Amino acid sequence: MEKVCSVSDVPEGTMRGFTVKLRYLLLVNLGGKFYAMDAVCPHMGGYLPIGKFENGIVTCPVHGSQYDVKTGKLVKDVPGFLKILTGGGSRDLNSYNVEVEDGSVFVKF
Ligand code: FES
Repeated sequence: MEKVCSVSDVPEGTMRGFTVKLRYLLLVNLGGKFYAMDAVCPHMGGYLPIGKFENGIVTCPVHGSQYDVKTGKLVKDVPGFLKILTGGGSRDLNSYNVEVEDGSVFVKF
């Protein structure tokens, strides 16, 4: 397990990006529970921590793909015309196990 941050660094209802062991990681606090996934959108590299986080869904700031933060699953892909223009759509994010201990958040890669 790799330490990512303190629990207080990501308040409830927010998300934040971290770099851990050369990985770009998105850490989300949803209702007091932490979820971790890749921070880079698989479509064309949008940086998800600067996107939108609402109702358990993260929206990519570049073309608007949406991901379920509990699973990393793609729930809304880019529109069809963008798939054609950009050579394809997005896919699920890798998600990682999270543990909280003594006020710190740890992630297992
Ligand atoms: S880069 Fe994220 S949807 Fe295109």
